[in-house]
Amino acid sequence: MKVLQVSAEIFPLLKTGGLADIAGALPAALNTAGCDVRVLLPGFAPILADLQSASVVAELTAPWGERVQLRHGTLGTLGVQAYVIDAPHLYVRPGTPYEDEQRQPHHDNHLRFALLGWVAAQLACGLDAHWQPAVVHSHDWHAALTSAYLAFGPARGRRVASVFTVHNLAYQGVFAPIHFYDLGLPAHAFSVNGVEFHGQFSFMKAGLYYADHITTVSPTYAHEIQTPEQGCGLDGLLRARGHDLTGILNAVDEAVWNPATDAAIPHTFDAQNPAGKARCKAALQQELGLDVKADAPLFGVVSRLTEQKGLHLVLAVLDQLLARGGQLVVLGNGDAALEAAFKARAVANPQAVSVRIGYDEAYAHRIFAASDVTLVPSRFEPCGLTQMYGLKYGSLPLVHRVGGLADTVVDCALEHLADGTANGFVFNVFTPLALERAMYRALALYARPTEWLGVRQRAMRQALGWDKAAAQYVALYRHLVV
Ligand code: ADP
Ligand code: GLC
Repeated sequence: MKVLQVSAEIFPLLKTGGLADIAGALPAALNTAGCDVRVLLPGFAPILADLQSASVVAELTAPWGERVQLRHGTLGTLGVQAYVIDAPHLYVRPGTPYEDEQRQPHHDNHLRFALLGWVAAQLACGLDAHWQPAVVHSHDWHAALTSAYLAFGPARGRRVASVFTVHNLAYQGVFAPIHFYDLGLPAHAFSVNGVEFHGQFSFMKAGLYYADHITTVSPTYAHEIQTPEQGCGLDGLLRARGHDLTGILNAVDEAVWNPATDAAIPHTFDAQNPAGKARCKAALQQELGLDVKADAPLFGVVSRLTEQKGLHLVLAVLDQLLARGGQLVVLGNGDAALEAAFKARAVANPQAVSVRIGYDEAYAHRIFAASDVTLVPSRFEPCGLTQMYGLKYGSLPLVHRVGGLADTVVDCALEHLADGTANGFVFNVFTPLALERAMYRALALYARPTEWLGVRQRAMRQALGWDKAAAQYVALYRHLVV
């Protein structure tokens, strides 16, 4: 089955968060499951630079007059066939894919990402005579107009199924209504039964409204987004589409995240031979100027520093952790106030707290390898990947019971220790006190090395690979194309 995946990011070429990890892993996982996958990406500089044996598929004029080229080739680092929209005036500029250097959204984001959806719809409708997908699968608001363009596009030949995956409902791509009229969609689509959202024009709503099927990245989040608390204003639509909404849990790309083969960590290890983990911990403590103590419980955070991630709770309980001999290592960037608050704690406690503001892929691997506990106290979390990376690297996750965190982490309560399902620490209420209690449970288990090592070994052996999720996507595609 031919499947076109459409996303704004792809690991390892361009990544601002977990979306890229998934977009990078899914093509290979689906190909292994028998699909024939190609990806469509905007021509950001690192993506264009990686495209090999490229040829021009078409010269196109977008509905608003923009002239662009569509190239096809192979992404060298991934070995994946890709279509890339070559439009340097739109995609090659300073800043992130979404924001300029002042952290403001690029002024023409509506055009930059409408183009992605529009080109996806052209490919779905047979633009490339040599390859037409049966399914077009778009990810997050950046690619969400795909299904709207498909719904109103020329109904040529075979009908192509559209799947839209919500990675995070909180980022919606909402624009002033004036921008809608540039994009070549029919005027009647700007309605409550369409792309209109409180008088604005919403990419996310377009994806939710027009896609044949909606998926999101964990079963629990699929339920949560149908509630007013977590629906970000779209819960009514999501409830109405409840029969076309499935939660498919993300997985771990074991070619990238495997402590037995990871070239980014100083000592490799696995569940059977864990000695390298203790060496990774000592090496990181040394590197960071922390007290080099094998028995100091080392807590790690690798995260965007945003409201979503609940890290102010960590600041609130940090003194109690330090008073019990714990250490904290943080890698992240985002909100200036959170960055400053964590920095200040590191300055005040240099032997026990290290904070690095920035983005560093290899350092993230070293933190998972070295730490005993991975903290993910998110307020909400569609899936979350770092708790799963923690499991793989024997850094037991401590999480708030929400979204994908609830689907992947089982608390070390006695009954779960007894039945062998425990793999981390879970708190139910989003308060410092609840996090503090979970932290004490972690410290209590850590003080019993035999039990700790048993839980850690089981966590590292857990099956977290892509085969299950890939099979679920393939079953969904099959269901949609018959
Ligand atoms: P989200 O996509 O909401 O940020 P996820 O847990 O799904 O959360 O994915 C985050 C991804 O980004 C993981 O691969 C994590 O290791 C990575 N990451 C987050 N912050 C950093 C950072 N500062 N440096 C390196 N990697 C980071
Ligand atoms: C989003 C979510 C995160 C999820 C990731 C990949 O960024 O915030 O929870 O793991 O997408 O699906």
